[in-house]
Amino acid sequence: MSKNAKDLAAQIKAIAGDAPVRIGLILGSGLGHIANEVDGVAVPYGDLPGFPHAGVSGHNPNLVIGNLEGVRVAVFGGRAHYYESGRGDVMRLPLEVLKELDADTMIATNAAGSMRADMPTGSIMCLSDHINFSGLNPLIGEPTDARFVPMKDAYDPAIRKDLRAAANATNVDMADGVYAWYSGPSFETPAEIRAIKMLGADAVGMSTVPEVILARFLGLKAAAISTITNMAAGLSDESISHEHTKAMAPIGAAKLEKVLRGYLRSIS
Ligand code: HPA
Repeated sequence: MSKNAKDLAAQIKAIAGDAPVRIGLILGSGLGHIANEVDGVAVPYGDLPGFPHAGVSGHNPNLVIGNLEGVRVAVFGGRAHYYESGRGDVMRLPLEVLKELDADTMIATNAAGSMRADMPTGSIMCLSDHINFSGLNPLIGEPTDARFVPMKDAYDPAIRKDLRAAANATNVDMADGVYAWYSGPSFETPAEIRAIKMLGADAVGMSTVPEVILARFLGLKAAAISTITNMAAGLSDESISHEHTKAMAPIGAAKLEKVLRGYLRSIS
C-alpha cells in the first residue's frame, strides 16, 4: 500500500473517527445525492492530496464517512474516469484509502446504456460480469505479481445474492447482466453497440470496470449496479447525451437507492 494512502487514511480518521468502515460506495452520474444522506462527515477531494478532481458535471467530489442504514460506509461522491486524464489507474489511490479505512467491500454505481428491450430507461441492472472492451487496464505498469488478478466471480456472488434479496424485499425490479466498458468520452457508434451486444454484453458505460479490477487487486470484494439512462446507440430514437444521462439517472437512482438501503439494512 502506498505511503500516501496510509497518510490519507490517517488524515481522514482524524476527522471522521477511527471506527472501521465496512463498505465503500462509488456514486455515478445522477447518484451524488446519496452522499448527502449519510449521517457523517464530508471531506472534499480537494483536501486529500492526490485524489482525482472528478471533474464531470453531475458528480459531487466529496468523500463522506458515516452511517447509512446502520452500516459505516465511505461514500465517494464523485469518481474519476479514464477519459478525463488518460490514466487507467486514476481511482487506485481512493480505493487504497478505502482499504486502509478497513473496508472489505466496494460497491460501484454507474449510469449506463442498455442493449436489452427488457431493460428500458429508468430500470436498474446488477452487474454479473463485465467485458473490458477498452483494451486498457488500471494495473498496466504494476510491477508485482499481484497484477495477475483472477477475474472469475469478480462481482461477488454472495453480495449479488444479498442485493437480489434486497431488491425482492423492496419490490424493485432489478435485472442481472453483463456490462461492457468503452473508454469514452464520445458515446459509442451503433456498429460498436451491435458488436458488443453480439459478444454478450447487456449494458454499456464508461466507468466501473477499472474500479472493479483495482478492488480485486486490493483484495476488496466488489459489486456494481447500473442505472439505465438510455437505450444504447442505434437501438432507439432516444437522444444520447450527457444532459440526457443526468436527466434520466434519477429514475433508476431512486430504485437503486432502495436496493442499496435494503442491502445495508440486511447486513447491519
Ligand atoms: N454509453 C456509454 N456510457 C453511458 C451511456 C451510453 O449509452 N449512457 C450512460 N452512460
